[in-house]
Amino acid sequence: LQRIDIKTEQRSYEAIIEPGVLRSAGAILRDKIPSAKKAFGVSVAKVRRLHGAAVAESMKAAELDYHIVEMPDGERYKRLATVDDLAEKLVKAGADRSSVIVALGGGVVGDVAGFLASVYMRGVPCIQLPTTFLAQVDSSVGGKTGVDLRAGKNLIGTFSQPHAVLIDPEVLTTLPERDFRAGLFESLKAGVICSNEVFTFMEANRDRILRREADALQWLIAESVRIKADVVGKDERESGLRRILNFGHTIGHALEAETDYKQFLHGEAVAWGMIASTMIAVGMQMASSLVAQRIISSILALAALPAVDVKPRNILKRLATDKKTIDGKVHFILPIDVGRVEIVSDVPERAILQSVEELRMMSHLA
Ligand SMILES: NC(=O)c1ccc[n+]([C@@H]2O[C@H](COP(=O)([O-])OP(=O)(O)OC[C@H]3O[C@@H](n4cnc5c(N)ncnc54)[C@H](O)[C@@H]3O)[C@@H](O)[C@H]2O)c1
Ligand SMILES: [Zn+2]
Repeated sequence: LQRIDIKTEQRSYEAIIEPGVLRSAGAILRDKIPSAKKAFGVSVAKVRRLHGAAVAESMKAAELDYHIVEMPDGERYKRLATVDDLAEKLVKAGADRSSVIVALGGGVVGDVAGFLASVYMRGVPCIQLPTTFLAQVDSSVGGKTGVDLRAGKNLIGTFSQPHAVLIDPEVLTTLPERDFRAGLFESLKAGVICSNEVFTFMEANRDRILRREADALQWLIAESVRIKADVVGKDERESGLRRILNFGHTIGHALEAETDYKQFLHGEAVAWGMIASTMIAVGMQMASSLVAQRIISSILALAALPAVDVKPRNILKRLATDKKTIDGKVHFILPIDVGRVEIVSDVPERAILQSVEELRMMSHLA
């Protein structure tokens, strides 16, 4: 059992990492939000079928009035229309201002349910029960919620911290291989941006991690959450430091949007984005080729990535609408060394174009 405190101006709360913790969700909810009378789970059919009963039983045992509402599965449903639909279902099911939202699922459910909670009847509390590796190490912690627009990812949203995050590594046993591997890239990202220890652990224990050995995963989840908690605690609303968490995401988000969210899982797009940023850093003589090689081979060893088949020019165009653009300038997070990055705003256009061209070449070599 590990408890990690996340301390932000908006709220301080705990992430509890413990095998089987979902079976205590009701009791923990009661403890964290004593005023709660009703709880409303938000999930997708598949996760509900696999893990919904454990949560429902724990709510019943804690004498909470519990209902679950479903949304369709997939990034393409991370849209305002889904929020609208879920809110209607909540009203019908009797959710009021004394209700709590329980997000049970991956990053998509977490982002949608967190956003819904932040605006439903002007805001009700939310607890996060992340069920993918990605959601357990990254998206469930830190309070970023939201949905996508056709124009780009996460362009509608709020900063709204949950009241608790319950991380049950046991649920990862049912996760499809591709989703599991894609999530590992967010941990690797945490390593590159600020923890040589996490990066080195992932290098040294790759096989144990890929076999999903419980103690390796428990350590990796806890360290990744600790890193995220630390960064978010210093810069909740991303005015500076928090931007480093976007390493690989600038080009990654553009790849996702350019391929209509169909070709890449989020983590896979981020993996390509991290490779591109690493190559840009070498080109600008900010990282040695030795460091770059270490980062890039660690990325490629974690999963076979879907090929990049996009026009570099189109990626460049998409960067202009990314939230990371400030006053027309795209900010890149570039690795300097393993565990150290810099925020750079003057990456030349041709370096960006060239890096995407290199991703295309690498995809066709592999
Ligand atoms: N808010 C943040 O700070 C933040 C950070 C990183 C990523 N994100 C967002 O997270 C999203 C990606 O999340 P994701 O990778 O979890 O994808 P996801 O939520 O789409 O889940 C992936 C798939 O796994 C299934 N699934 C979930 N848990 C399962 C389980 N235990 N067993 C079997 N199947 C299971 C889901 O039904 C889905 O089909 C993106 O939208 C991304 O933008 C947000
Ligand atoms: Zn991400």
